[in-house]
Amino acid sequence: MSITLKSPDEIEKMRVAGLLAAEVLDYITPFVKPGVTTGELDKLCHDYMVDIQGCIPAPLDYAPSGYKPYPKSICTSVNHQVCHGVPGEKQLKNGDIVNLDITTIKAGYHGDTSRMFHVGEASIQAKRLCEVTFECLWLGIAQVRAGAHLGDIGNAIQRHAEKSGFSVVREFCGHGIGAKFHEDPQVVHYGKAGTGVKLEANMIFTIEPMINAGKAAIRELADGWTIVTKDHSLSAQWEHTILVTETGYEVLTLSDGTRKPPEWIKSCS
Ligand code: MF3
Ligand code: CO
Ligand code: CO
Repeated sequence: MSITLKSPDEIEKMRVAGLLAAEVLDYITPFVKPGVTTGELDKLCHDYMVDIQGCIPAPLDYAPSGYKPYPKSICTSVNHQVCHGVPGEKQLKNGDIVNLDITTIKAGYHGDTSRMFHVGEASIQAKRLCEVTFECLWLGIAQVRAGAHLGDIGNAIQRHAEKSGFSVVREFCGHGIGAKFHEDPQVVHYGKAGTGVKLEANMIFTIEPMINAGKAAIRELADGWTIVTKDHSLSAQWEHTILVTETGYEVLTLSDGTRKPPEWIKSCS
């Protein structure tokens, strides 16, 4: 395994795939209401990706070694579900929080992004967890530039999460992405500044912190995919796909409906 540097042509394809993934989230947003089932959200997104965007939903039948094929086209992780929630009959109810994670394949390249949604009115605690996790994502992104280290990203995320009284999930991480869904490097969301792989221009990877309101420990459900917090505390996650540039970064998963970074994040060019 090694980290691939993307060519200008590959980067252009990643921009297209990333935009499409973000646009699926824009499309599905008005449907995320009390009473809708996660299976219905999956079907709507699937049909949009296949029929309107002409792309492939990467999760469908995705089978990394040790896993059975993922049965759906998106991931829907509700409340104490951390990630890889499998859509089904579950109806969303007022006060739930849900992560929708979309990965598209277009012209052979992947775009991967996720957002948190409040269903109706969420609790103050649930909203705070979603906000802090969003800030964690952007604090991580703001570390990215050629010459920085992966540990700078993890450290920025971990510090903000823990200072806020929350914990960082260790078992799942961001990842290189390109012609493959999950490539090197692993982008963990904790660690020590100045350590780990040194970033180079034209690397592309995701940052996707999973932050728990309670303890960091997780477990897998019997479906072989859905990950939940062991203590059943709430969990939140946001994800972008990021291109490393000489001076900073380019977020590849921005669309009209993408939430803007916190104001205190310095923009880069
Ligand atoms: N989209 C997830 C990620 O951010 C991976 C989902 S794998 C699946 O890496 F098979 F569950 F879809
Ligand atoms: Co990802
Ligand atoms: Co994802």
